[in-house]
Amino acid sequence: MIPQSFIQDLLARVDIVDVIERYLPLKKGGVNYFACCPFHSEKSASFSISPSKQFYHCFGCGAHGSAIGFLMQYNGLTYVEAIRELAREAGIQVPDDGRNVRQADGSLDRLVEIMATAAKFYRDALARSPAANAYLRKRGLSPEIAARFSIGLAPDAQTSLQQAFPDYRDKLLNTAGLVIDNDQGRRYDRFRNRIIFPIHDRRGRVIAFGGRILENGEPKYLNSPETPLFEKGRELYGFFLAQKAIRADGFALVVEGYMDVVALAQFGMENAVATLGTATTPHHIQTLLRQTNRVVFCFDGDEAGRLAAWRALENALSALRDDVTLAFLFLPPEHDPDTFIREKGVDAMRQAAANATPLASFLFDTLRQRCDTASAEGRARLVFEAKPLIARIPEAAAVLRLQLVKTIAGASRLTQSETEQALGILPTRHQDANPAANVANTGYGSRQTPPVRRPPPSAISTLLRLVLQHPALAARLPINLIPDNTDEGRALIAIIDLVELGEAIAGFGALSERFRDTPHGETLNRIAASLIEAEFDPSAVEPLFEDTLRKLQADLIVREIADLKERMRTGTLSPIEQRRLTDLLKEKSTPLNLYKTL
Ligand code: UTP
Ligand code: MN
Repeated sequence: MIPQSFIQDLLARVDIVDVIERYLPLKKGGVNYFACCPFHSEKSASFSISPSKQFYHCFGCGAHGSAIGFLMQYNGLTYVEAIRELAREAGIQVPDDGRNVRQADGSLDRLVEIMATAAKFYRDALARSPAANAYLRKRGLSPEIAARFSIGLAPDAQTSLQQAFPDYRDKLLNTAGLVIDNDQGRRYDRFRNRIIFPIHDRRGRVIAFGGRILENGEPKYLNSPETPLFEKGRELYGFFLAQKAIRADGFALVVEGYMDVVALAQFGMENAVATLGTATTPHHIQTLLRQTNRVVFCFDGDEAGRLAAWRALENALSALRDDVTLAFLFLPPEHDPDTFIREKGVDAMRQAAANATPLASFLFDTLRQRCDTASAEGRARLVFEAKPLIARIPEAAAVLRLQLVKTIAGASRLTQSETEQALGILPTRHQDANPAANVANTGYGSRQTPPVRRPPPSAISTLLRLVLQHPALAARLPINLIPDNTDEGRALIAIIDLVELGEAIAGFGALSERFRDTPHGETLNRIAASLIEAEFDPSAVEPLFEDTLRKLQADLIVREIADLKERMRTGTLSPIEQRRLTDLLKEKSTPLNLYKTL
């Protein structure tokens, strides 16, 4: 754990403009800076950076965050990696706070070194082997592409790695998955007589290997086991090299094999990655969706390919959003991407990716094929099978879900509301300005057309916006005046708490990091995004703050009066409450200053 105080300190010392400027050309416009958004393709500069808030926001795709968030999103780093990177760029030492951290980190660093040493050994071994080079030539791999992917060779011997590691008994060689210790206590290399594909993490460090047998043999491919460095469900082969192309091409292509990724790159499609002998996980999809909003999954056209595609679909549903497209590309049965691009060329491959079947069509068509919709039983089964799938689609893809419901309704000859009921979807009654009202809502929000005019912001929303622009105002807010029945109210209370504890807040970006992974994080980011679009005029801040507090106070009184009157009507008013009501009615005509004044 990196201490929160360090993160806050770090964010106070770096300028988000400097950080982003290293990656993107920026233009100044008014108080903010602008660039073309790196997270979606565009010609106009919708990506804005606010130096005063230390926050970025894209009006086009909604990407937003602090300097840490930018490094995570742009470089595909984890939170901790991004903090370390930011600290490194700023020349600041990241502290160790835990007892075990140093040791654990130390051994991770050692594992990284070991993997790098092994990778180099395998590469050198390939250079020395005419037979392996002949095999690669036969497979049509150019020496350039083999070098780009750092392809190597594990020699055909029991303990070749002894040449790379003088201490071949080192326990960490086993932890790294490079050797196997048999029951007799004998140790030998895991990879033998195989072409080696190093697997890189998103920063380009070797964390595992895949090995293909030279010529024929079983198993055809062998991967590193899971190690402290390598978790299969999280890593994608080729991702490190593909990141740039994924952003430039506007989509990522997910294929099944190492050879596919390498061949595609050789023929000019550098945006391909492969899962590592596992099904595509939601985590894989999230990783890719941080770089692009279109992911195409490529499968062989045979039955096995269809099955694998269906599993990928099931795993993808939870990652759906209305602003992303997930699509499925089925190659002709005799092809995999490697053979396809060699035979048909890169243009045909790109065309096929562009024409890939969108997820919703694949889902519906597959269900349709499984169920005979000519009979009532078949139509019932269609809805039955759709139910668990639809249930996985999150609120973020509410519109897409609605489209699917309509299609299913049509095919099952039910009305839309019958279908919704059968699928167990609760329609949203009302999308109101109060996000808390929608939190527990499992239905979807797009049945009614959204109101064209937004309701005026609530007093709490205004206060929160003011505090985000001027954190010092938080010290003047009476915490007991803030209702905690909305997301915004709770976020505001959390900020006041921080300020009362004496925490300094270096701008909005720092505040947003302070609340990362708490329920308040998203609320704050949403508000900050709207603030970048429209800041309060500085001269308006003080009067607006005072007015809003007064309004909040008045609202509370009105609500309490209504409540007490209702109890009077039902005869449940106590004498004390009776007095309170009288006082309140008086107060309403001459508002007292309940809130803290200067
Ligand atoms: P394929 O058998 O389709 O191999 O497995 P391929 O990519 O076409 O390889 P070549 O062209 O014969 O060299 C696809 C992927 O499935 C995993 C590997 O990740 C492989 O790239 N796999 C396959 C294994 O993990 N183990 C195996 O034994 C076979
Ligand atoms: Mn193949």
